[in-house]
Amino acid sequence: MNREKLEIEMKGLGLEASLAYLDREFGAKAVFSTSFGLEDQAITHAIHSQNLNIRIATLDTGRLFRETYELWQLTNQTYGKPIDTYFPNASQLESFLNQKGPDSFYDSVENRKECCHIRKVIPLDRALQGAEIWITGIRKEQSGFRTEMAQFEEDPSKQVLKYHPILDWTWEDTWDYIKKNKVPYNPLHEKGYPSIGCAPCTRAIEPGEDFRAGRWWWENSAKECGLHWVDGKLSPKKGSKS
Ligand code: ADX
Ligand code: SF4
Repeated sequence: MNREKLEIEMKGLGLEASLAYLDREFGAKAVFSTSFGLEDQAITHAIHSQNLNIRIATLDTGRLFRETYELWQLTNQTYGKPIDTYFPNASQLESFLNQKGPDSFYDSVENRKECCHIRKVIPLDRALQGAEIWITGIRKEQSGFRTEMAQFEEDPSKQVLKYHPILDWTWEDTWDYIKKNKVPYNPLHEKGYPSIGCAPCTRAIEPGEDFRAGRWWWENSAKECGLHWVDGKLSPKKGSKS
């Protein structure tokens, strides 16, 4: 089914109804990627509470917060359903670590993007193999870049349609859903971490700072890892860096 038709047929559907619709249309060819952030936990709940066949996948970078691994375990226990895990390619990661060391992302944006590429972007390609639609937890409010996004987007680098079911939700909307449905969440959200990525690359934010100010805080960059938008463009083509 093409983007225009989906846009028309899904217009006005809320989170649960829109996922149920995609489940009927795509089943396990719809893949939701979770990083266990607050938004992602809301979507995971909407999928599991309706017993949908949409696949849930996570990219384990190997550098996540202890709290994130605990939440992952708790999420498995809460819903009794596994989450498909994609880990970086061992030899690629070994060669990067041998050449540059474990924390080279602090030295340059290039090193940081290479680390994100190996630990996230390449595993995502595997997670999306065979998928027709990729569901994310992106919200407009998260960054200037993201306010420009549409709910459906074509990602030519992955030959997949992207869908952001809660694009227009506010941070408060997300909390309301989580609390109302008693969804497990990362305790770091209550300690100044609205956006949570890898532990060495995420810090708490101060009141008044941007939502994503704690991500790669030492950089003056677009603050994107390459999964979504990079320097004003869609994610790079398979196998390329940046
Ligand atoms: S990132 O590009 O800066 O890392 P962000 O943390 O805002 O992204 O998350 C936006 C969306 O990207 C999430 O809702 C999720 O769909 C996807 N995502 C980000 N990190 C991961 C991950 N480690 N595993 C799976 N999906 C992820
Ligand atoms: Fe590497 Fe940091 Fe990117 Fe995680 S966020 S993949 S540790 S550079």
